[in-house]
Amino acid sequence: MIDRLTIFGASGDLCARYLLPGLAALRAAGHLDDRFQLTGADRSDWDDARFRSWAAAQLDRHADAWSADTRQAVAAAARFSRADVTDPAAVASAVAGDGPVAVYLALPPALFSPAVAALDRVGLPPGSRIVLEKPFGEDLDGAVELNRLLADLVPEDAVFRVDHFLAMTTVENVLGSRLANRVLEPLWNSAHIAEVEIVWDEHLALEGRAGYYDSAGALKDMVQNHLLQLLCLVAMEPPISLGERDLRDRKVDVLRSVRPLTDEDVRHRTRRARYLAGRIDDHDVPAYVDEHGVDPDRRTETFAEVELELDSWRWSGTNFRLRSGKALGGDRKEVAVHFRPVPHLPFGHSGEALPNALRFGLDPESLTLDVMGTGSRARTLAPLSLTAQLAQPDLPPYGRLLLDVLTGNPALSIRGDEAEEAWRVLTPVLSAWSRNLVPLEEYRAGSNGPVSTRSGDGGA
Ligand code: BG6
Repeated sequence: MIDRLTIFGASGDLCARYLLPGLAALRAAGHLDDRFQLTGADRSDWDDARFRSWAAAQLDRHADAWSADTRQAVAAAARFSRADVTDPAAVASAVAGDGPVAVYLALPPALFSPAVAALDRVGLPPGSRIVLEKPFGEDLDGAVELNRLLADLVPEDAVFRVDHFLAMTTVENVLGSRLANRVLEPLWNSAHIAEVEIVWDEHLALEGRAGYYDSAGALKDMVQNHLLQLLCLVAMEPPISLGERDLRDRKVDVLRSVRPLTDEDVRHRTRRARYLAGRIDDHDVPAYVDEHGVDPDRRTETFAEVELELDSWRWSGTNFRLRSGKALGGDRKEVAVHFRPVPHLPFGHSGEALPNALRFGLDPESLTLDVMGTGSRARTLAPLSLTAQLAQPDLPPYGRLLLDVLTGNPALSIRGDEAEEAWRVLTPVLSAWSRNLVPLEEYRAGSNGPVSTRSGDGGA
């Protein structure tokens, strides 16, 4: 296990809200001891004492589930290194120390390449690992270039392209439900499943993140990474094991089986939209274009929907709908598997059967089966929902993800070829949208999103 971690971008939101609490969880669970050293690296004019007191304050705020002693131990293990990630001398001092180091780039995506290039000039001790967040590159060419730079720096199994959705219990929930139960996998194909919806609709609006989000948009922020990863878990062939090779090979197979979208497909099977001013719960939300730091001319979408088909024996004939939007009226975060209707219903006029659905709730994590049962009157039918909340995981997603990095288990991180395949799936959409082949629709903040002509869901 590596016992040194350097976080570039250490005074940022990711470090404050997720990485420091993740380290507290690892310390509390006994995975980290006093040998562990944390270096926060940033352009801020801070020193060790200032970083420690900042880290202690963030831990008090975001990690109060763990004891004061635990939080104190994490803050005390920290030192600070003032560093511009493009300056090799400063980078060298931020990663200096004995033995291998894990380097976490908690940075805006535009800085990944310069940071990796600077690290390459400095060189890392053998056995070191590097961690990058989404989006991996800004398009397919960018991802290929970033992979090339990373390959010069460390071996592929030392590159952790992390996606914290894979560190949620979602992986166990989806794969466990499918593969540890006799009743589901035989039905897991296009003969029985009409559509799979992978949805992350949230009421959160921009939350002051224009600096990153306005050059990303919903497609690159959510669909290209988190939602495609969920697609892989739902649609993959059963892997031989959950080891890195088996799991990642099967995920890549799914991405490779996605039928390439033509311009005509993009016109009919994708949609993009941007929110107008509205009200969510009891507060007013400004229009996206009026949010601080947004450039309206970029025409960044805050809602994206893409329908895909997979060319494979298992899935030919099933529709996969991936969708995510901000500033919506309700939170709907789930993978919903919609089964086909029963072939015959021997109830005459006394009952109508809704097709079954299996729903993997993502936040909170749950499992729901929508079935038909009997109604209150004799020989009538009524829908029933059977829901189970999942047990709380022993580690939060970022605790789990950091443990994988420090112990060197890349199974849940995204392999280089997989990152490129994920871009390949969406490149036709990016291209057609940039040529305005699909209108940028609008929806009121607090509504259900743009009116859909296909899914029949409610509208603005
Ligand atoms: C972000 C989105 O990048 O990813 C968020 O913009 C979204 O609004 C998030 O909710 C998902 O991650 P998290 O941090 O909320 O678990």
